[in-house]
Amino acid sequence: MKACAASALSLALLPAMVWAGVQEPPSGAELYAAHCTRCHGTEVHVRPQRLVNTLAELRARIQQCELTAELGWFEEEVDAVVKYLNDAYYRFPEIK
Ligand code: HEC
Repeated sequence: MKACAASALSLALLPAMVWAGVQEPPSGAELYAAHCTRCHGTEVHVRPQRLVNTLAELRARIQQCELTAELGWFEEEVDAVVKYLNDAYYRFPEIK
């Protein structure tokens, strides 16, 4: 009986995760945690009588809250938070 050494080779083939040192834009989750929890927490996204019932309503509500909070977000930041809240809580089908 001989031990198989082939598995050692496969480790060397794993893709290397190299961090280039370029600063990534904050994720939707980070944006939400940093700017959106002043007035409400995530409980509003899972309550039975929630206000938002479609992806379009979700985007509109986020834009409204973002304007109220005077965050001055770009489209990309709104997009990131729409995606985060939809993936994490609402789960509306994406219409593209
Ligand atoms: C100035 C206070 C304030 C801030 C800051 C704020 N919100 Fe809101 N948000 C509200 C209020 C008020 C409601 C409505 C709550 C209610 O009717 O019970 C709400 C509701 C929502 C809803 C709808 C929840 C549902 O019923 O489905 C979403 C989505 C939402 N906010 C997203 C955000 C996001 C994203 C941010 C950060 C950009 C944010 N909010 C920051 C005040 C705020």
